[in-house]
Amino acid sequence: MAEPSYLTAVRESYDTVAADYVERIPPPAALDPLSRAMLAGFAELVRSAGLGPVADLGCGPGRITAHLAGLGVSAFGVDLSPKMVELARDAYPDLRFAEGSMTALETADGELGGILAWYSTHHTPPQALPAVFAEFHRALAPGGYLLWGDYVGDERLQPTHVYGRRVSYESHLLPLDHVVGLLERAGLAVTARLEQAPAGRVNRPHACLVARRPEAP
Ligand SMILES: C[S@@+](CC[C@H](N)C(=O)[O-])C[C@H]1O[C@@H](n2cnc3c(N)ncnc32)[C@H](O)[C@@H]1O
Repeated sequence: MAEPSYLTAVRESYDTVAADYVERIPPPAALDPLSRAMLAGFAELVRSAGLGPVADLGCGPGRITAHLAGLGVSAFGVDLSPKMVELARDAYPDLRFAEGSMTALETADGELGGILAWYSTHHTPPQALPAVFAEFHRALAPGGYLLWGDYVGDERLQPTHVYGRRVSYESHLLPLDHVVGLLERAGLAVTARLEQAPAGRVNRPHACLVARRPEAP
């Protein structure tokens, strides 16, 4: 079956801007303190549950994957963009990075102790998100955790250029309650939420959610 056109657009666009992205996006140490706290809390939850590795889905150049590894988590990265994966492998040769899509993970049912989706689901059209969250539920072990972080709002963005280069992806910003509802409908229990006003270099409202696949009864 042919892949949905939005995936092709995301792959091609991130291949085009990958090197610029690495140059311009500051490292995780420069993230705002609350986002770093969410990543640290997630790492601690995953470590203490001891259920399996964390997949960083839409890992880009692998910086957050490496940040999680530095927090003692067994983590690997997956990204649609071959160029992003190449940059991640070059920067972090000791970590595992694979080309792939969060829409169809190459992991067995219940294999993952955690999933990180960090500013990577906003390129998924809203109508395709339920299937992505169902895939997260499938791949997580019962008791496993999801940390979701992204921009929030109620807007569809269609940039033609990013960093001066032509792109064709879209971004879909959704109200946080809507994302919470989709996760809950996928069978994931949302246990924590953080909503932040625009600040510093992040010029849009943004949020983090922790969700958990319920343990088997
Ligand atoms: C804004 S970047 C964020 C990268 C990284 N998470 C970070 O915070 O540095 C979004 C990334 O998500 C990836 N992405 C978007 N949709 C994806 C999908 N369906 N499967 C895998 N990766 C995807 C893009 O290729 C891109 O590298």
